[in-house]
Amino acid sequence: MLMTHSSNDPAGFHDRAVLITGGTSGMGLATARLLLESGAHVVITGRDDARLGRAARELDGVSDHGARLSAVRADSADLADLDRLADLVRERHGRLDGVFANAGTGVFQRSGEVAEQDFDRSVDVNFKGVFFTVQKALPLLDAAGGGSIVINASWTLHRGPAVAPVYAATKAAVHNLARTLGSDLAGRGIRVNSVSPGYIVTEMFHAANPDPASHEAIRSQVPLGRLGRAEDVAETVAFLLSPRSSYITAQDIAVDGGLVTAVPAS
Ligand SMILES: NC(=O)c1ccc[n+]([C@@H]2O[C@H](COP(=O)([O-])OP(=O)(O)OC[C@H]3O[C@@H](n4cnc5c(N)ncnc54)[C@H](OP(=O)(O)O)[C@@H]3O)[C@@H](O)[C@H]2O)c1
Repeated sequence: MLMTHSSNDPAGFHDRAVLITGGTSGMGLATARLLLESGAHVVITGRDDARLGRAARELDGVSDHGARLSAVRADSADLADLDRLADLVRERHGRLDGVFANAGTGVFQRSGEVAEQDFDRSVDVNFKGVFFTVQKALPLLDAAGGGSIVINASWTLHRGPAVAPVYAATKAAVHNLARTLGSDLAGRGIRVNSVSPGYIVTEMFHAANPDPASHEAIRSQVPLGRLGRAEDVAETVAFLLSPRSSYITAQDIAVDGGLVTAVPAS
């Protein structure tokens, strides 16, 4: 069923089914909250039962539209997990109207320090995981008559930080994937876009920037003068998943306070 909007369902999410990989914290969790509030049934994933349980408790009761949340343990780098996830979504909802391929990981080291296993893990989660999340969701999107896919890329695909040689390359890869998949899937009524968040304060931000003393220097690079919130990205993802963006495909939206294209006024 193609998503449409009406006056009592302005975002067009009522009774729709959306998969969010990596929904236990950060942008995935914020997006899950927003979509549940808008009436969508949401499936979130993560690798750890305790973190999934905590997210489910946090999201409990946020929907007054009877929308359902499912929290499913699935490692995006594990194709058997992705098959199991697709089966579960099929059983529970019979279709998918939207997918936010958000799960990501980062090892923030200079090129000389990157170990093979960290290289492989980054590529397996951030690139291979995104590709196969989409591939395995396709029959479910077809069952809905089409839908919208959003891939979480990063500002690092535009500017290459010294400590993110592998991470940034995986994000450039999935940015390109949104374009090729946009071409491939348009005929099936499936739109594919990416978002490129800037510095968003989440667990990953703290892992990449452990020294709080560095945060002011980071903030000063952002023309809008503040670090990003997970909710800033969730709003953009919700727009791209909704029928309000029905003529937008194969695009990237930077949600970065101007980080990659503007210069802070002195
Ligand atoms: N924060 C930033 O400044 C920033 C900027 C640009 C782009 N991004 C991207 O934004 C996305 C979300 O990150 P975040 O900043 O919101 O950080 P976060 O709070 O650390 O969230 C990461 C999420 O991904 C999940 N995840 C990690 N590896 C996974 C795997 N193999 N399988 C399934 N789920 C997995 C985590 O779940 P569990 O740990 O519970 O498994 C968690 O839910 C990532 O793709 C990241 O690269 C972040």
